[in-house]
Amino acid sequence: MRILITGGAGFVGANLAARGMRLGHEVVVLDNLSRRGTRWNLEWLRSLGSFELVQADVRDSAALRDLLGVRRFDAVFHQAAQVAVTTSVADPRADFEVNALGTLNVLEAIRLTGQDPVVIFSSTNKVYGELAQLDVAQCDGRYALPAVPRGVPETAPLDFHSPYGCSKGAADQYVLDYRRIYGLRTIVFRQSCIYGPRQMGVEDQGWVAWFAICAALGWPITIYGDGRQVRDVLYVDDLVDLYYRAVEAEPRLLSTVFNVGGGSEQAVSLLEVIGMLEDELGRRVALRFADWRPGDQRVYVSDIDAARRAFAWSPRVSVREGLGALLAWVGEHRTVFEGAGAPE
Ligand SMILES: NC(=O)c1ccc[n+]([C@@H]2O[C@H](COP(=O)([O-])OP(=O)(O)OC[C@H]3O[C@@H](n4cnc5c(N)ncnc54)[C@H](O)[C@@H]3O)[C@@H](O)[C@H]2O)c1
Repeated sequence: MRILITGGAGFVGANLAARGMRLGHEVVVLDNLSRRGTRWNLEWLRSLGSFELVQADVRDSAALRDLLGVRRFDAVFHQAAQVAVTTSVADPRADFEVNALGTLNVLEAIRLTGQDPVVIFSSTNKVYGELAQLDVAQCDGRYALPAVPRGVPETAPLDFHSPYGCSKGAADQYVLDYRRIYGLRTIVFRQSCIYGPRQMGVEDQGWVAWFAICAALGWPITIYGDGRQVRDVLYVDDLVDLYYRAVEAEPRLLSTVFNVGGGSEQAVSLLEVIGMLEDELGRRVALRFADWRPGDQRVYVSDIDAARRAFAWSPRVSVREGLGALLAWVGEHRTVFEGAGAPE
């Protein structure tokens, strides 16, 4: 296959590209290299084999049309995005232009050039908003949603919160609608917290990697809220498996939108993650507590049954194993992270 990965120099994109190369596919990475760590990810990809880099911006519709006008693709993994809620609040226009308009540009480039790839869009659980209709309970020192013990299903009402939620949510709906109206072979993954090596976690985005970096380097971690908030976390290799399975399965799919995360078996509280990092490192991590941040969900867990059934897929890497691999990667590259400086 020939695969186009927008945002292919980022965390998920680079992992998708690496797997594609390993599987013998022809990989084209399109990225504007705006995220810290992208050049480092490209060096890593070059060490694994050959791929093509197109340095371009998804806001540039002509660049996308030019690329798709001359190269045919069997699959497009659309990862390029402005990824932080906080940044979207500070600059909602820029967020909209990259996430909503950038996605429309990708879809239009495919439509206008008459290509027929499988298109997989990395949407987000944020499209379900605060889930105010579901009561939150506390049990065993963590928050839970007793009404949905298997997690939040795809039938939950859409409720976009924050400019990021709106821009990704709009893109999610366009991607689905381009299948309805134009017959594009699109699939939407509403992803929960993905973590693993090559994630340049910062306090605002990529919290699992951020915690691992702080823990490994002896920096204190600030917990906003009480640390009992729960997320279902998914190791990046498991996500990558799903993308490649989905390309194969697309002709047989009955539905095309999937909640994707670790599911109820890989649901962990922030404090539990810190406990596992401490176990792995054999020492305590310094914690500071601060006020809840506006819009922070107490608990989000994906119901991944639809993805399990459609793709004969399940997460294979346990949270402990995944955190161990992430810590090992951070440890091997301490100097890179030390260069970024400890938090104030
Ligand atoms: N990591 C997660 O936990 C998670 C969860 C839900 C959804 N997602 C989605 O998955 C996708 C990948 O996330 P990630 O964690 O790998 O983020 P990332 O920031 O590591 O990767 C995004 C990549 O997109 C590139 N990019 C940004 N703006 C661009 C533009 N205008 N044109 C071209 N390239 C651009 C960046 O340089 C970066 O390489 C994003 O769409 C994100 O919204 C991620």
